[in-house]
Amino acid sequence: MQNQVQTISTHGFNDQKPGTSGLRKKVQVFQQTHYLENFVQSIFDTLEVPLGATLTVGGDGRYYNRHAIQTIIEMAAANGFGHVLVGQAGILSTPAVSHIIRKYHTFGGMILSASHNQGGVHGDFGIKYNISNGGPAPEKITDEVFAKSKVITQYKTVKFAPVDINTLGKTEFETDRGKFTVQVIDAVQDYADLMQTLFDFTAIKKLLASGFKMKFDAMHAVTGPYAQEIFVNRLSAPESSLMNCLPSEDFNGGHPDPNLTYAADLVAIMFSGANAPDFGAASDGDGDRNMILGKNFFVTPSDSLAVLAANATLVPAYASGIAGVARSMPTSGAVDRVAVKLNIPCYETPTGWKFFGNLMDAGKVTLCGEESFGTSSSHVREKDGLWAVLFWLNVLAQKYALDGMASVETMLKAHWLEFGRNVYSRHDYEAIPTDAANAVMQHIKGQFESLPGQKFGHYQVGSCDDFSYHDSIDGSVSKNQGVRILFVDGSRIVFRLSGTGTEGATLRIYLEAYETDSHKQHLDAQIALAEMIKIGLQISQLVALTGCVSPTVIT
Ligand code: G1P
Ligand code: ZN
Repeated sequence: MQNQVQTISTHGFNDQKPGTSGLRKKVQVFQQTHYLENFVQSIFDTLEVPLGATLTVGGDGRYYNRHAIQTIIEMAAANGFGHVLVGQAGILSTPAVSHIIRKYHTFGGMILSASHNQGGVHGDFGIKYNISNGGPAPEKITDEVFAKSKVITQYKTVKFAPVDINTLGKTEFETDRGKFTVQVIDAVQDYADLMQTLFDFTAIKKLLASGFKMKFDAMHAVTGPYAQEIFVNRLSAPESSLMNCLPSEDFNGGHPDPNLTYAADLVAIMFSGANAPDFGAASDGDGDRNMILGKNFFVTPSDSLAVLAANATLVPAYASGIAGVARSMPTSGAVDRVAVKLNIPCYETPTGWKFFGNLMDAGKVTLCGEESFGTSSSHVREKDGLWAVLFWLNVLAQKYALDGMASVETMLKAHWLEFGRNVYSRHDYEAIPTDAANAVMQHIKGQFESLPGQKFGHYQVGSCDDFSYHDSIDGSVSKNQGVRILFVDGSRIVFRLSGTGTEGATLRIYLEAYETDSHKQHLDAQIALAEMIKIGLQISQLVALTGCVSPTVIT
């Protein structure tokens, strides 16, 4: 039977501006009539899809994924796509989507996820478009999508019977635009195979068989099935190495954000004293973030990136060296020091993975990362949680093979001794009124003239600015990417408003101080940064302007 393309009348919405990573809203917002369809059509209208092209679709398994997948399949058919690849059960982690786009040369992909935001009927939903290099659509595209979403008057769709996305295989449809197929693919195998080409699985297997204990927490999110295949099936780790590996539509009521606050169960296990596992890790809703822990030890994401860069040649995929590194502006300068030693370039980009894509496509950087628990390399164009976990395990396996011991804490301490320690912390004030958050930013900017030269306790302000980035590859300029207060000794405080929240505003304060004294390098970051924290509050007048007395999340 031929399915007819239908044109449905609609009207624009004013709030579909993609943020740091796609469009994220409460599920109820997405459930408004035509809301999802409008955004999808605005993407298709921006792209000029070649007839018969292939689209990859998958998500983190959260509530509304299945509904959105059926909608996207129908709209893809009506908009000239010839094929859709869907992960089985609608599941595909963000890095897996990136890999599948690249491996099968699909035109692009849609990722249905609000990443680390809470899920469920009352939680968040999100949608992100990735281009043919596998990476998030750059601002040039997302700006155009937003412009179109405000003035859209119609969208195209074809009504199909619900596609069975639980069963592997191909379903063919005839539409009045021609043949259209939906292929349900295994969500895990391609990605697991890729990991096996990058890392020394034999060495990791030996490490895991040596009595070295690991614990991976999938937080009831997308990495569960990936972790099962990689750690248990391919690396022979015991089942007890995994926790919360069954994806659930509301992440079992939790907040799938791998940090010290939200991954509390794993943190308790890893900080349980002498019998704690040797290595712990967690990943977020859509599998692109990672948290790394040692026995009673937390590795900041900024340090993690630096340690991986310093040890990259221990890993098969990077054995011949790395071309360069990149980090988002608020990420600490720890990796910069490694880049100096390796004599490779280090790029500083705005927050958000989309800014790394051009540098990787141009072959200028191999590893990149963000302080927000994101690390990855040019093997995909997204951050990649399990990749980071495997990288750490591979490096530890090599240390074990060389010295007969593998300790995260020992590695970090040796790293700090060599490079100094960029003591780092981020304080988030979530869900505060937008006006109050803007007032704080304005208050700081109002002091740009008077702050340089001023002394605050042990620190003197050198300069301050609002970070803007000039992309050396495509020439684009991104302004207002965070306010920086730079102190003469290299310490700094950065203030930035989040672009991923769905309730009010989230104000982030990023604090960094550089410590070369090995006797002080072991100090808890909150203690080492206590004076900087006070200075940040003094300059911003945050408490007076927002009424918030303490951060919601400290990482
Ligand atoms: C946050 C992080 C940012 C990351 C993004 C998507 O964005 O800070 O580094 O790329 O989530 O995971 P923000 O809410 O700060 O705009
Ligand atoms: Zn994520």
